[in-house]
Amino acid sequence: MRQRHASPMPSGARLGVAPMHPFVDLHLHALPGVDNGPASWSAAVQLCVQAAHNGITHAVLTPHFRGKPYAERIVRLSSRLIRLREALAERGVALDVALAGECRFDAFLHQAIQSGDLPWLGRWQDDYVILVECSDARLPAKLLAAIEWMRARHIRPMLAHPERIREVQAGVDVLAPLVQAGLLLQVDADALAGGCGPYAQEAARALGRRGWITVLASNAHDLVRQPPRIEPGRIAAAELLGEAESWQLVAHRPARIAAMHFPALLQA
Ligand SMILES: [Fe+2]
Repeated sequence: MRQRHASPMPSGARLGVAPMHPFVDLHLHALPGVDNGPASWSAAVQLCVQAAHNGITHAVLTPHFRGKPYAERIVRLSSRLIRLREALAERGVALDVALAGECRFDAFLHQAIQSGDLPWLGRWQDDYVILVECSDARLPAKLLAAIEWMRARHIRPMLAHPERIREVQAGVDVLAPLVQAGLLLQVDADALAGGCGPYAQEAARALGRRGWITVLASNAHDLVRQPPRIEPGRIAAAELLGEAESWQLVAHRPARIAAMHFPALLQA
């Protein structure tokens, strides 16, 4: 990936500060009025402006998919994505956005996999990736079987913020057979930096030490409680795992995954 030099001021026609490497965010709630992200168009644009200011150049948007058939949601969300892209282009915001989703591990996900109506996060080797969430209490009992079932269909699940799950906080090695079966892990950048409390941070650090974190992402919902920032997590990753791996987690690896949405990332 081409390096960009840090600049203290926005430059050129597009607003935003270029970091040493552009951050590629694979978990961001920025579509308005569709989940617990921004409630209005102006809040959505402000969230994107802040993301760009914080060095995020590309984001795959991940509205929650739960409790409803997927097919009709994808159509409605796609029209909102187009409107958001237009709003960002009009304001010169240096953030490219694409649409995927955060899929609850439920019967509707099973149905969507069978019908092929899935919000793809990207590609991982020969597989298509979906971002999957489960409850904060424990891992789903049938997760291992589900991973094997998905992988037989060339679908690779990426588990969102495993560091929040209390069963994982009690001992991250509960994930060992799942990671071995091919489960990818997305850790929230703020959690690794300590912004989500000591239990989530310790779990995130333990996952990092085992080499199990695939990517760090913002999981931003708003400007205050869950803001669109990655750099504090990147710095924590650099201290734990070294500078090179920290950039793998926030730039190089997410760029490869998201290249099906942003082909230019592969040439950068
Ligand atoms: Fe999320």
